[in-house]
Amino acid sequence: MRYEDVSEYVAKLVGKGDDVQVWVGKRSVELREHGVYAIDPTRGRLLELLARLGSPKTVLEIGSGAGYSALWFMKGMGSDGTLDAIEYNQAVAKVLETAVKKAGLEGRIRIHNGPALSVLRDLQGPYDFVFIDADKDEYPDYLDEAIRLTQRGSMIIADNMLWGGAMVRGDKRREGARGIMAYTRRIFNDERLSSLIVPLGDGLAISYRLK
Ligand SMILES: C[S@@+](CC[C@H](N)C(=O)[O-])C[C@H]1O[C@@H](n2cnc3c(N)ncnc32)[C@H](O)[C@@H]1O
Repeated sequence: MRYEDVSEYVAKLVGKGDDVQVWVGKRSVELREHGVYAIDPTRGRLLELLARLGSPKTVLEIGSGAGYSALWFMKGMGSDGTLDAIEYNQAVAKVLETAVKKAGLEGRIRIHNGPALSVLRDLQGPYDFVFIDADKDEYPDYLDEAIRLTQRGSMIIADNMLWGGAMVRGDKRREGARGIMAYTRRIFNDERLSSLIVPLGDGLAISYRLK
C-alpha cells in the first residue's frame, strides 16, 4: 500500500467541505504568494472531529490565513464557541473577514490583525484549543505562549510537523526546520503534554495537556 494512494482514497471520501469552505479554499490558493497554505480537507476533518470530541468553547488560531482551518474548527464547535484568529497580513485578513461574513460567524470569530508574538502577549486565555500554523521559526515561542494560555485538559495542535519530509530526514537546512525540530523535541519531552504527530498531509501534532 502506497501512502499517496491511501491519502487520495481518504481525501475522496472526505470531499471538499461546504460552499463557503470551497470558496475560502480557492481564495487561499490565490493567496499563496502571501504565504497562505491552507490545510487540506482531510486535516480539516480531523480538526472538526477533535472539536466535536473535545467540545472547546474557546479556540486560538495562530496563523489563520483566509480562514479555511478556522471554518473546520467552527463546524465541530457548539454554537457558543468562539475563535480568536491571528493573521499579520492585512490583505489576507481582509479575505478572512469576508469569509467570516459569508459563513455568518461575525462575533464568533475575532480577527487580530498583527504579528503573532505581539498579539499573543496581550491575550489572557484560557483557551481550550490552540492551533499553531504561522512562522515555523517561531513555533517554540508559540508553544511557550500556548502553555501560558491553556490549562489541564486543553489541546495544542500544530501543522507542518513533517515539513515536506525534512523532519523525517533530519534535514535542518530548510527555512523553519530548526523551529519545528525544537517544537517536536519539546512536545515529546514535556511531562505536561501527551503528544502524537498524525502523519496526515504535512503532519499534524496533537498535544493534550495532562497538567
Ligand atoms: C500556513 S498559512 C495558514 C493557513 C490556515 N491555518 C489554513 O489552514 O487555512 C500561515 C499564515 O500565517 C500568517 N503568518 C505568518 N507569520 C506570521 C506571524 N509572525 N504573525 C501572524 N501571522 C503570520 C501568514 O500570513 C499566513 O496567512
